[in-house]
Amino acid sequence: MTEPTPYTLIDGRKVSSDIKLELAAKVAERKKLGKKIPHLAIILVGDDGASQTYVDHKVKACKEVGFHYTMMRFADTISEDKLMKHIDHVNNDEDVDGFIVQLPLPPHISVENITEKIRSDKDVDGFTNHNFGSIISKNPLLMPATPFGVMELLRRYNIETEGKNCVVVGASRLVGAPLSMMLVEQGRATVTICHKYTKDLAAITRQADILMVGVGKPGLITADMVKDGAVVIDIGTTRVEGPQFKNGFSLKGDVEFKEVAAKTSYITPVPGGVGPMTIASLLMNTMRAAENLNP
Ligand code: GUN
Repeated sequence: MTEPTPYTLIDGRKVSSDIKLELAAKVAERKKLGKKIPHLAIILVGDDGASQTYVDHKVKACKEVGFHYTMMRFADTISEDKLMKHIDHVNNDEDVDGFIVQLPLPPHISVENITEKIRSDKDVDGFTNHNFGSIISKNPLLMPATPFGVMELLRRYNIETEGKNCVVVGASRLVGAPLSMMLVEQGRATVTICHKYTKDLAAITRQADILMVGVGKPGLITADMVKDGAVVIDIGTTRVEGPQFKNGFSLKGDVEFKEVAAKTSYITPVPGGVGPMTIASLLMNTMRAAENLNP
């Protein structure tokens, strides 16, 4: 009996760290040429613990690459109208090249209203309808950050997508939907999108040369749902709480890692796979926005 070929673990931390070094070099070059240093502003509403952690990571990443940054905090009682006015202010602040509004927002504030208020050329999360639509343009603007990170991982690991059967599980506005379009437009792949109404999910995922999952359901994808030799990208990040975990919680992907990994050619772990790439994409988008606004 022949032994199965060992899989390659896709190391998002390493790729993210490589990207940060490249960006730091670009910042140094801009400094030398007397050009503006990229400036990211982060708006955080309320005191959700997970959001605070994500934002801390974003600030740390800005420091690592030498970007300027501004943190703007507001109480979760702020009205939508008031938050809109602050966004207008940042939209018009010439010193800020890009900014994000950390999600989730309190229930009385409409995410769509807020997102659409952000100037698309400063929308470094790539959340606006304009940037979503620009995926299918010849000159894409600022790419939705998580899908951009996934595409970058594939590119840096030389994983071919042209003509491949890609199955994306999850059709969310921020991940599954834009990722599917990128795979078609930039990756020239044949793409199937699955969601909660899909019948016989396993029959479809078993067809995938490249399987990407981002629904937030730990353990959804088991070994019987994966074709031998497939590439598996796990975009799920669910905080599972328990006293046995350091910090009181553990981050879980959507894939049963151990049993699935043995069947794959490449797989991303959680944590340390796609997660660090979201921040790397945010930084790449901020550099792009700065280069466009202040060449
Ligand atoms: N909340 C969880 N992930 C993200 C993200 O990538 N951007 C923003 N703005 N909020 C988030």
